[in-house]
Amino acid sequence: MVETLLPELRIDPASPVDDLASLFPGSINEFWLEIGFGAGEHLIWQARKNPKVGFLASEPYINGVAKVLSAIHKEGFVNIRPYDDDVHDLLDWFPDQSLNKVFILFPDPWPKKRHNKRRIISNLLISHLARIMKPGAELRFASDIPDYVDWGMRKILENPDFYWTANHPDDWRQRPIDWPETRYERKATEAGRTASYISFLRR
Ligand SMILES: C[S@@+](CC[C@H](N)C(=O)[O-])C[C@H]1O[C@@H](n2cnc3c(N)ncnc32)[C@H](O)[C@@H]1O
Repeated sequence: MVETLLPELRIDPASPVDDLASLFPGSINEFWLEIGFGAGEHLIWQARKNPKVGFLASEPYINGVAKVLSAIHKEGFVNIRPYDDDVHDLLDWFPDQSLNKVFILFPDPWPKKRHNKRRIISNLLISHLARIMKPGAELRFASDIPDYVDWGMRKILENPDFYWTANHPDDWRQRPIDWPETRYERKATEAGRTASYISFLRR
């Protein structure tokens, strides 16, 4: 699949697009980006449930990409375009205000202070997301590392284009029903860690 299907479906950041709809056959009415999809459980679940959504999804871990390609092949999805590398390569490529949802689920924690700067959530990433997300678009972030939850909240809310939607602790302590468990999350729960599920909207 990696040799055959990936070259066909892979997003090419060197080919500019004006409209993400041109990447998908049929009628697609929303575009969602998943950053670091791991083994692809969330991506595949969402693609199955939302056939009218076009999924753009980046993950440098090739075994995860292979799993998603195999699901595309078996289930015949036509609404997933993977990118097998760093999401930063794509950020200038996305048209302005083109995304309806963005997922950053259980990003690598980089817990040591001196490694914090490697965390995927940064002021730079969030400023790109502010440009490429539509007004009213949702940014979903989950982590089981309390220090990363604080970090992510701070970086996202430092950008005035985003606001947090929670009204009640259940809004971030419980995974919404349209949000399946990922492999990383299952391991965190088995290890006794609790996840936070945080949703922001683009103004
Ligand atoms: C802890 S795992 C979580 C995977 C998945 N979201 C889950 O919940 O099971 C974090 C993932 O982010 C990916 N990742 C790290 N840096 C990335 C980057 N710059 N662009 C895209 N994905 C990245 C890693 O390869 C890894 O698979």
